[in-house]
Amino acid sequence: MTTRIIGTGSYLPENIVSNNDLSKVMDTSDEWIVSRTGIRERRLATTETTASMAIKASEKALLAANKKADEIDLIIVGTITNDYVTPSTACEIQAGISADKAVCFDINAACSGFVFALQIAHAYLQTGMYQNALVLGVETLSKLMDWNDRSTCVLFGDGAGACVVEKSDVGIYGFDLGSDGKKGVALSCENRRNNNPYVEHSKDLGYVRMEGQEVYKFAVTTVPESILKVLGKHSVDPSEITYFVLHQANVRIIQSVAKRLQVSEDKFPMNLDHCGNISAGSIPILLDEMNQKGMLKKGDKIIFSGFGGGLTWGTCLLEW
Ligand code: UT7
Repeated sequence: MTTRIIGTGSYLPENIVSNNDLSKVMDTSDEWIVSRTGIRERRLATTETTASMAIKASEKALLAANKKADEIDLIIVGTITNDYVTPSTACEIQAGISADKAVCFDINAACSGFVFALQIAHAYLQTGMYQNALVLGVETLSKLMDWNDRSTCVLFGDGAGACVVEKSDVGIYGFDLGSDGKKGVALSCENRRNNNPYVEHSKDLGYVRMEGQEVYKFAVTTVPESILKVLGKHSVDPSEITYFVLHQANVRIIQSVAKRLQVSEDKFPMNLDHCGNISAGSIPILLDEMNQKGMLKKGDKIIFSGFGGGLTWGTCLLEW
């Protein structure tokens, strides 16, 4: 027995912000952003929250899976931009869709969050403890950006992606996950500081800080290694993979991974041109876009690979 994705859904905020829009409010240009990253526009939340986007994506995934919310056993959300420290986004989703019997929690693995959450759901299902799960990656990254730091704020976007998974004979083959906490400083965002009466008060808020080139080097070496590891473990050749669904950080990273694997770039679908980098949301949103377009066929072998803050990385090999 394994775990299979039986429905997908996604939601993007209504507010579309192009590179040219950004160039009106900061010192940047469409040319710089497109040539360095491939990003042309992104959605930035105005009225939406992390939970409201996640609820909409969940409703679509449930509909596609032909499941009712009260049948769901488990809700796991990969996010670093929860609306509240508590309740979790997963608990907010539970309330929003009335998944009354579900056990709900969030996990933090930044841009690898969806793949980490999927592995947790898979592990639970394999024990027999639960029969199905709703797994999400969702972010409102625009609230963690320093809008005076053009080197980061132009890269990220907001949105939510959801999948319903259940026990099945075919589906997930396996995972390769990893973490390197010693390199955590390369991509970080400090939480609120201690303000108890015994420490010096500070109202500083944390913003995302990224050593772009460090993260770039990490991604172009770790991602192909991780993909080859999971393929090797299951005796699958890269040429047998229909789609490599990678975290959408930068077109140059994706091209480099394709080259290292000696696989055509056509097998690497992308949505970063209109979404930017949505951290944990990237993979499930792209997957839902592919699903809506009818690109996913029964029997297709697919790779998911996320990488980012922590540092963390996570690859999953599955059959559709
Ligand atoms: O989701 C987590 C994973 N994250 C990633 O995978 C990100 C990985 N890193 C990258 O994708 C790239 O490193 C970036 C796209 C972030 C940056 O590209 P880069 O080629 O490494 O550029 P850089 O940081 O070396 O900056 C080059 C120049 C600098 O100017 P000087 O010092 O050479 O004069 C920057 O000040 O570009 C300047 N710059 C900008 N110019 C216009 C930085 N940001 C901007 C901007 N617009 N938005």
